[in-house]
Amino acid sequence: MPTLQVGEIPMHYVEQGTGTPLLLVHGFPLDHSMWEHQIAAFSQTHRVIAPDLRGFGGTPAVPETVMLEQYADDLAHLLDALGMGEPVVFCGLSMGGYIAWQFWNKYASRLARLILCDTRSAADNGETAMGRLRTAEQVEQQGLDGLIETMKKKLFAPQTATEQPEVIARTEQMMRGASREGVAAALRGMAVRADMTSRLSEIRVPTLLLGGALDAITPPQEMQEVAAAIPGARWVEIPNAGHMAPLEQPAAVNRAIAEFLRP
Ligand code: MLT
Repeated sequence: MPTLQVGEIPMHYVEQGTGTPLLLVHGFPLDHSMWEHQIAAFSQTHRVIAPDLRGFGGTPAVPETVMLEQYADDLAHLLDALGMGEPVVFCGLSMGGYIAWQFWNKYASRLARLILCDTRSAADNGETAMGRLRTAEQVEQQGLDGLIETMKKKLFAPQTATEQPEVIARTEQMMRGASREGVAAALRGMAVRADMTSRLSEIRVPTLLLGGALDAITPPQEMQEVAAAIPGARWVEIPNAGHMAPLEQPAAVNRAIAEFLRP
């Protein structure tokens, strides 16, 4: 997997295909390989770039706190390092969606389209934010096991466990590839992220929102409200999927994305 120096960190990423750039930004605490089905499908028609964010997969961590703006800056710098002048389609899942709002806020002219998967625009409430700070400390002191067990219970539709246990095993493997420092830094950054809900009406790029019908972390109802607040945005609910819709139901997710990207 190639690496490019992005600021102070060597950033791992996958690049495949030619055409309009499609940037795939993973969720927490995962890595680029959560997009394996989308990389395979869309590299036939697009220049797909799927990085590991700092502290995840093959990209080293920076301790303490990583603000979501920082991840967005890293992505802009990665695009610069790749010589990518043209606007990109930015597709982010969950934390990748939180980063998408920041990318839009700071780099709107570099954005052709937005795809937001299983994510929200609201900030954490006080209790959730405190919980994240406690988890960050726990991860630093005791490792990732507790977090992984909690996440495994929340990430998937119930039938994924019975019908596709390999998807859960793959996701666990990804989570084990994250570094303690990277996970703790992301948790602290998410805990203090801005609420973007009041800004949604300012988004002017074509936008698709999609999410699992059984997503327990970012429920469809909440995603529909986000879609309704963005002028002209499309909403697609993915049946039989939880929070990890792109891995749980790749065919339905790819169909929704392909329709949205059709010229
Ligand atoms: C994710 O999938 O990125 C996380 O569930 C985001 C979060 O913890 O809010």
